[in-house]
Amino acid sequence: MPERVMMAPSILSADFTDLGAAVRLVQEAGADFIHVDVMDGHYVPNLTIGPPVVKALKRVATVPLDVHLMISNAEVSVDQYLEAGADWITVHVEACEHLHRIVSHIRASGAHPAVSLNPATPIEHIRDVIADVDMVLLMSVNPGFGGQSFIPRTTRRVRMLANMCAEEGVFPLIQVDGGIDLATAPLVVAEGARVLVSGSAVFCADDPARALREIRHAAESAIV
Ligand code: DX5
Ligand code: ZN
Repeated sequence: MPERVMMAPSILSADFTDLGAAVRLVQEAGADFIHVDVMDGHYVPNLTIGPPVVKALKRVATVPLDVHLMISNAEVSVDQYLEAGADWITVHVEACEHLHRIVSHIRASGAHPAVSLNPATPIEHIRDVIADVDMVLLMSVNPGFGGQSFIPRTTRRVRMLANMCAEEGVFPLIQVDGGIDLATAPLVVAEGARVLVSGSAVFCADDPARALREIRHAAESAIV
């Protein structure tokens, strides 16, 4: 398991009138990914951005774009995100009828496939696909909005996922998304998470660069 924690700031909580500046700011602060939340107003009750904005972000990104698809029928539009420059694409197990097909397609297209589970979805539902993905995203809030509170049971779910990966002998990165801040980041890292998405705790801080560095520092101190 990697001995450092990778930070994936979510631009959902950034100033949408100046996304380029937001991306540059967190990159200079050491972000490892730019987390891009795509919501369709159908799978989740919020509507954010689509392929044209991903394409624009790609022009300013010097780190990989981590595109989190919270959309129905991802198989219909996934190619548009691949063409827009997504480096990592996360799909929801709950929203994909043919999960193995879409993760295989993402990999065959040259991007890193990842799969996400909502807080109420049993970890076991992805056992048969964890060998085929490079990352598993555990949602620590119900998807749809930034600024929600971390669901405490997520820490136990990270441990259950890490155990299942060990049983299967495969080690995708474990990412946690939702309500990650100085207090919650160490909790999930202690159980095996190594990629942290943080939106409001970074972009709503007075000094986002400092907030990002502090969350990473707190998280890394929890690596056992
Ligand atoms: C929620 C999104 C998250 C969100 C996180 O559906 O997937 O990435 O932006 O925001 P915070 O860190 O504010 O919970
Ligand atoms: Zn997200």
